[in-house]
Amino acid sequence: MRKFFDVNDIGDLSKALEEAAQVKKTPFAWKHLGMDKTIMLVFFNSSLRTRLSSQKAAYNLGMNPIVLNIGQDSWKLETEMGVVMDGDKSEHLREAIPVMASYCDIIAVRSFAGLCDRDFDYAETVLNQFVQYSGKPVISLESATVHPCQAFADLITIEEYKKTARPKVVLTWAPHPKALPQAVPNSFAQWMNAADVDFVITHPEGYELDPRFAGNARVEYDQMKAFEGADFIYAKNWSCPGVTRPQDYGKILSKDMSWTVGDRQMAVTNDAYFMHCLPVRRNMIVSDSVIDAPTSLVIPEAANRVVSIQVVMKRMLEALQ
Ligand code: CP
Repeated sequence: MRKFFDVNDIGDLSKALEEAAQVKKTPFAWKHLGMDKTIMLVFFNSSLRTRLSSQKAAYNLGMNPIVLNIGQDSWKLETEMGVVMDGDKSEHLREAIPVMASYCDIIAVRSFAGLCDRDFDYAETVLNQFVQYSGKPVISLESATVHPCQAFADLITIEEYKKTARPKVVLTWAPHPKALPQAVPNSFAQWMNAADVDFVITHPEGYELDPRFAGNARVEYDQMKAFEGADFIYAKNWSCPGVTRPQDYGKILSKDMSWTVGDRQMAVTNDAYFMHCLPVRRNMIVSDSVIDAPTSLVIPEAANRVVSIQVVMKRMLEALQ
């Protein structure tokens, strides 16, 4: 495996889930693979789960992780080509990437969408420079349009908790005070479309996800209708993807609090589990009563972040042997 950006990079999902179950059962069984190997974890943005789960997975595999917080531990980096660097950015990615690559065997990168220029974000301009200039396997730790380590962990969690062979999974938009990227819902949609589930997306009009991620998923604009009979509710806020109106890209179109996931909506589900990638704004995205209920999976879901990235790192290390 040379890159991990989307669901196609993991191959057969059933095999990936079996491997995840093995990794979870015996996390230290592949410690030899990472001996004398280094992974560079590059963060342009804040993180709790991704940073800690990546480090933990690297240690489980006997690998040495180096964490770099761009702009805090390092110089501020310029990401656009052809610019006159007369601002506050002291170094260009063009030099920084090959330098970082010379110190490691695998590079993993967190670089959020700027939400100003849709073409720049949806071309994954920053992540692709890491592919182009590092010569090393590259993992997205949430980039402009995708968060595959999260989506894989979500799928592992659904597999562990599902009560029927083909559960109904609903991705619902929920309100948030700040404009957030579309990476989590994009990846969740892409992975659910590839999985054996009955997948429905619900959001206010204008929040349609990019078709390359939403695929043929059913979109239901009535949240209550979408929730009917659901086995899993996956809540997330996202800003306007700019599919129908490119000029609205990255904007907040709604703060409608009736979309906050609460007891009213959960009552029409099939006693559904509640999921969210975290961090979550309580009583904006989800009510205290729902996130604190025994049916909330947010903690096991976060714990599975170690498993998902460990499978990816393991496969990359196996390819390097
Ligand atoms: N879900 C997730 O990626 O969490 P962090 O932003 O804390 O890493």
